[in-house]
Amino acid sequence: MKSAPCTGTFVAALYFATLWNVVSSYSSGNGSFPYNFLFGAATASYQVEGGWNLSGKGENIWDVFTHTHPEWIADHSSGDIACDSYHNYKKDVKLLKKLQVQVYRFSISWARILPNGDLSLINHSGITYYKNLIAALREVHIEPMVTMYHWDLPQALEDKGGWLNTQMADYFKNYASLLFTLFGDQVKWWITFNEPTEVCTGYVSRDAAPGVVLPGVGDYKAAHTILQAHAKAYHVYDQKFRSKQKGRVSITLSSRWLEPISESSEDIEASERGMQFELGWFAHPIYSKSGDYPPLMRKIVDEHSRAEGLKYSRLPSFSGYWIKYIRGTADFFALNHYTTRLVTSGEEGEIPSKEHDTGVISKVDPSWPSSASKWLKVVPWGFRKLLKWVKSEYRNPPVFVTENGFSDHGELEDNDRIYYHKNYLAELLKAINEDGCKVIGYTVWSIMDNFEWERGYTEKFGVFHVNFSDPARSRQQKKSVEVLSKIFHLKKLDEADNFV
Ligand code: NOJ
Repeated sequence: MKSAPCTGTFVAALYFATLWNVVSSYSSGNGSFPYNFLFGAATASYQVEGGWNLSGKGENIWDVFTHTHPEWIADHSSGDIACDSYHNYKKDVKLLKKLQVQVYRFSISWARILPNGDLSLINHSGITYYKNLIAALREVHIEPMVTMYHWDLPQALEDKGGWLNTQMADYFKNYASLLFTLFGDQVKWWITFNEPTEVCTGYVSRDAAPGVVLPGVGDYKAAHTILQAHAKAYHVYDQKFRSKQKGRVSITLSSRWLEPISESSEDIEASERGMQFELGWFAHPIYSKSGDYPPLMRKIVDEHSRAEGLKYSRLPSFSGYWIKYIRGTADFFALNHYTTRLVTSGEEGEIPSKEHDTGVISKVDPSWPSSASKWLKVVPWGFRKLLKWVKSEYRNPPVFVTENGFSDHGELEDNDRIYYHKNYLAELLKAINEDGCKVIGYTVWSIMDNFEWERGYTEKFGVFHVNFSDPARSRQQKKSVEVLSKIFHLKKLDEADNFV
């Protein structure tokens, strides 16, 4: 066990180097992506699968959250049926083919494989479902990228305290190990957690399951366990599976770009502080040279905790062992990015809360185009700045953009979505060609309209439309598919020129 940390760091460094060698040949400057750059599309189990109580699946926290509090969802809906991908996965593969992607990022529903969350019961129908999906993808040469945890914790584990219970790290390790055993011969891209920051909001407010309200305490605690759980899964892969399966493991972190509102040193500091609390919270322990939480975050939360009269900091501490064990546990940097904010220093949020600890006020520029989601403003240049920040902060890791997307109200002529992707991709190309960032892949969120969490079906991110009033959940191509499929196939951005 003690030798594992070094192995993790070493293996990660090796993968960083080889992954980049694989994609480092460019035809420069003419809007081309590296010939082996990977394009993909993504979904998540709870958002598309449906079949919530079929064939032995256990309940998860989103089943319980939507069933007990439909009023917490914008249109009082749930993912009970969603896109019914449980029955329609073959159709989904056809859509992916049409979009000409090389990678499909989807997630496995933990409770469909392990209805009780632990190994006491293994649900073979659940395993068959994912084996069939993976086989269907492989048949048409689409590489599966599997997320192990996209927010749908088995309720049985939430009943044990969920991510506030440190034992969850071992439950996750056992689940991850089972997934490697079952699917690792066919799956070469693994993501342990999707957007752990968002998982932690489930312990801050009622905006997300499980809806436990413990701001500034619950989120830091949950994060601590998640980092340990991720590292355990990574080391299991190293120790038992990597030499034979030869895959790559990472964790998908999400971040906005936080642009200083002015050039004043105070605003520049606010931006840096915001980035450390937003992305550094999970990225620093894994990707920085020294490991552990960002020093600035440590200092601020410790000070605030003292000022609140607490004996211990609300931000838990890692021992030296854990710092080493977590450091280096990623073979590439998986990044979700959608939008940007302008920031300045100031007090926001209740005491205590992570928001208040961050000490940053964020704003949007009224000239930025909107989407159907309140939080999503269209700011392509922020993408490039974020990629540059990741490069300089974490020693230029290979970055796989595991999500980027735009919401509307379901228009088939989705010109705004085309504008969004085209311009974000242009910034990504600048990051590669002009800034030297090692971006190796780009994934569209999402292949089809789906259940957008607390927003229900009111905000649509798909490049394919889904008719949710049709029992067959028929799918229909939007205009963006025409544009994106050309870009993805030819790996040339100019292909989209005629459309925007
Ligand atoms: C990130 C999440 O991973 C995904 O589940 C969600 O639907 C999109 N953002 C859009 O909000």
